[in-house]
Amino acid sequence: MAQAYSTEGWITADGRKIGPVLMEMKNITLRFGGVKAITDISFDIREGEIRAIIGPNGAGKSSMLNVISGFYVPQEGEVWFRGAKRPPMKPYEVARQGIARTFQNIALFEGMSVLDNIMTGRLTMMETNLAQQALWWGKAAREEEEHRAAVERIIDFLEIQHIRKTPVGRLPYGLKKRVELARALAAEPKLLLLDEPMAGMNVEEKEDMCRFILDVNDEFGTTIALIEHDMGVVMDLSDRVVVMDYGKKIGDGPPDDIRSNKAVIDAYLGVSHE
Ligand SMILES: Nc1ncnc2c1ncn2[C@@H]1O[C@H](COP(=O)(O)OP(=O)(O)OP(=O)(O)O)[C@@H](O)[C@H]1O
Ligand SMILES: [Mg+2]
Repeated sequence: MAQAYSTEGWITADGRKIGPVLMEMKNITLRFGGVKAITDISFDIREGEIRAIIGPNGAGKSSMLNVISGFYVPQEGEVWFRGAKRPPMKPYEVARQGIARTFQNIALFEGMSVLDNIMTGRLTMMETNLAQQALWWGKAAREEEEHRAAVERIIDFLEIQHIRKTPVGRLPYGLKKRVELARALAAEPKLLLLDEPMAGMNVEEKEDMCRFILDVNDEFGTTIALIEHDMGVVMDLSDRVVVMDYGKKIGDGPPDDIRSNKAVIDAYLGVSHE
């Protein structure tokens, strides 16, 4: 488990390139009143890697993603991103820095079409405001066209052309999850946070989602941090795994190390989930 990583990164046995540290969480503690959701946790996320966060229900996994995405501000600890300490920020400011996310409970506009939902993912990137649009319609129109083209590329990439006009509320669960991924990708994130992207899916939907996550990582070079309960998926997808239990970190390393880590087996792998 205690493994020395170089500052510049390394190449894995199956040829995956893990780059330098992109995000570093230093001694994070997060409390809700008397409840300690996270206790003194440190870990890093490296450029290009798929980093899994696992642990039993209530371990503090979603809270950790919420700290990274700026939804929660920890009482203690520091968040470093791209080599700089991040001051307390609002979620939209974090999004502007290139961090996008999906939610454990899907957060989409049910009455809006798939296409329009994905467009909302580009809001943080839209430069011209309404007043500018009125004064300088040429630039605004050009921008709108570029945004639409980018969204269409994502729709093709995630193979959801056939539902692009469908209201999200009418879609089955598995497809809603895919649309949520599309919305997050529309922001062209450097770091993508996925909170249980495969929860509640059948085997076929899970396989599709795994493939898309790997493709996003591979083709766009997007760094990914994901929370997942399915250990098969975690072992297949991730380069390194952080294990949490009752708000504490009890393991951190490549999947093979985690599988044989006694504390992890006792706390988590030995019992069934979901
Ligand atoms: N907004 C909140 N207010 C109060 N307590 C919270 C809040 N969010 C989380 N908690 C508490 O913090 C702890 C960690 O919750 P969290 O949702 O981060 O766990 P999790 O590992 O994501 O669990 P799960 O696998 O069930 O999604 C729990 O005890 C939870 O009740
Ligand atoms: Mg959670």
